[in-house]
Amino acid sequence: MPQDLQDKMNLYLANQEIMYIKLHNLHWYIQGKGFFTLHAKLEELYDQTAEVIDEVAERLLAISGKPIANLKNALAIATVKELEDEPVSSDSVVYKLISDVEYWIQDSAEIIKLAEDADDVGTADLFTGYLANYQKLLWMLRAYTSS
Ligand SMILES: [Fe+2]
Repeated sequence: MPQDLQDKMNLYLANQEIMYIKLHNLHWYIQGKGFFTLHAKLEELYDQTAEVIDEVAERLLAISGKPIANLKNALAIATVKELEDEPVSSDSVVYKLISDVEYWIQDSAEIIKLAEDADDVGTADLFTGYLANYQKLLWMLRAYTSS
């Protein structure tokens, strides 16, 4: 597989590995209005993230890549900002999520482009699914903040 595609998929994987913990952080430390809704939504999102991590790692293996499978290496390249172990207001949770989801969309789009350039239809298809899901999530998060 092309090196640029492998590097970008591993960066994506590293970010999702860190996101898995960050979504738990938000799930645990969220406080304020909308607690029950967002606490549950965050659980749904970290469950989804666990599936994404597994799918991306196994896709890398299927196309002769080498997925990042330890947190030290993931942290060394991840661009996602981790959070402190501190309470976080529900409004701020939604804004933090919006900003992360915008990155997921951007990164998915870049991987689709690299995969298409490499005639790797399977990878392009996998990330097209993610892109559509994230666009829907972004619309919902923005709608949630506009009340
Ligand atoms: Fe929980």
